[in-house]
Amino acid sequence: MDYSIETAPLKELQCDCIVVGVYQGAQFCPSASTLNDNTQGLISKIINRGDISGKKGETVLINAIPDSAIKRILLVGLGEKAALTGKNYRQALFAAVNALKKTSIKSVAYSLAECDVIGYDWQWKTRQIIEVVSDAVYQYTHTKSDKNTDSKLEKLSIIAPEHELSRVTAGLAQGRAIAEGVIFTKFLADLPANICTPTYLAEQALELGSKHGKLAVSILEESDMQALGMGSFLAVSRGSRQPAKLITLNYQSGEKNAKPIVIIGKGLTFDAGGISLKTAAGMDEMKYDMCGGAAVLGTLMAAAEMDLPLNIIGLIPASENMPDGDANKPGDILTSMSGKTIEILNTDAEGRLILCDTLTYAERFNPDVVIDLATLTGACLVALGRVPSGLLGNDDILCNDLLAASETANDSVWRLPLWEEYQEQLKSNFADLANIGGKDAGTITAACFLSQFAENFRWAHLDIAGTAWRTGERKGATGRPVPLLSQYLINRANG
Ligand code: BES
Ligand code: MN
Ligand code: ZN
Repeated sequence: MDYSIETAPLKELQCDCIVVGVYQGAQFCPSASTLNDNTQGLISKIINRGDISGKKGETVLINAIPDSAIKRILLVGLGEKAALTGKNYRQALFAAVNALKKTSIKSVAYSLAECDVIGYDWQWKTRQIIEVVSDAVYQYTHTKSDKNTDSKLEKLSIIAPEHELSRVTAGLAQGRAIAEGVIFTKFLADLPANICTPTYLAEQALELGSKHGKLAVSILEESDMQALGMGSFLAVSRGSRQPAKLITLNYQSGEKNAKPIVIIGKGLTFDAGGISLKTAAGMDEMKYDMCGGAAVLGTLMAAAEMDLPLNIIGLIPASENMPDGDANKPGDILTSMSGKTIEILNTDAEGRLILCDTLTYAERFNPDVVIDLATLTGACLVALGRVPSGLLGNDDILCNDLLAASETANDSVWRLPLWEEYQEQLKSNFADLANIGGKDAGTITAACFLSQFAENFRWAHLDIAGTAWRTGERKGATGRPVPLLSQYLINRANG
């Protein structure tokens, strides 16, 4: 998609379609009002006819505009005339693009950044337009014969007044970077596990590194992990014929001595459960168990595109979890890189086993903070559904920063407690800790497990099991939490 800014007055504008907002009670946004005047009251006529009342989410396409270089007008309902909430604004943007997707329109001009939204400026509004449109028109075709997408949209311009140009320019750059990071994440996650293997993820990371001068990528092989003593990570990968990889992305654009922000993403390219085999129904969706890793790649891509003046380390432990004659077994005890011994009581709780060694490995980067993202527990879906990601951590400032970023980015998180009482559930008679904590509070005990490997730094964990992909008819990756992490990084870059 090609994004641009349009500052020409509406009278001079030429486009296939312009998107304008109308409120209930025949109230217009400024552009709708101007267009109405320029077309002898065309929009008023449509409203008087009862074709649109201005309710939230309504749309009407006027596809013949007499004597105008603007070929079509898409009216979008914004509800009662009042400043919109951020959420309502995004809902209106989704309604607009969903209407456009049903047409053959290739180039569109959006006037909706002029709508009043509580607490947000032109920069944020511009960014949302780009993020929402890009998200809505994304369509996976890689392994389909028909590569045509439903949407024919190719060009989008943001209509803006001269005096908002700098904010709109900044919003466009951020929106484009985040949208591309989200698309990359969705694409990798939607790929099947026979294509998207640990090796494939490593290749994608190397390719990303080759495109950005400030991004250095390196890969640890199983032999390197052996030498580092990553007994926990290797216990998971030994049941798979695909070699595991530990991918490191090193983005250095901050001050030389500034401590890095470390982002770790679970890159389990297929989770069959191992010897504690999962049931058949829906097992295909376990190709998405690498969404955390994909989101690390998407976030570093966005950070590099935005040229954020930060030092960021991305770490992706990538492996499969398969049943095999050599796979680890319930009751096995392994020694993690930290030296702590772990009793495996369920081989399906593998995410924490690859993450714990990666957390220990993160210590060598002397991190300012460490954030891990993982499709870690089905229990997170039970607790929070598919709306927010679960947030747990050992540092209130970091957790609050993530909560604030999630609000701006519209990529919600909800904090769960990480009280020491829950650590009891991980006790083992035979090792320092067990890899599962019983049926209660599964998301919390999983985070408790990780916390035992995150004692030496400020750390937060995002359980994205409910938010990284959709199931059912719209099955597919969401690209979350790339918007949240990108916003966190933008906020950090701004001091
Ligand atoms: N990848 C799964 C978690 C998951 C399940 C994500 C469903 C999304 C949807 C993880 O590796 C897993 O299998 N977790 C187990 C842990 C249990 C054995 C303690 C789970 O949630 O059932
Ligand atoms: Mn599992
Ligand atoms: Zn898993």
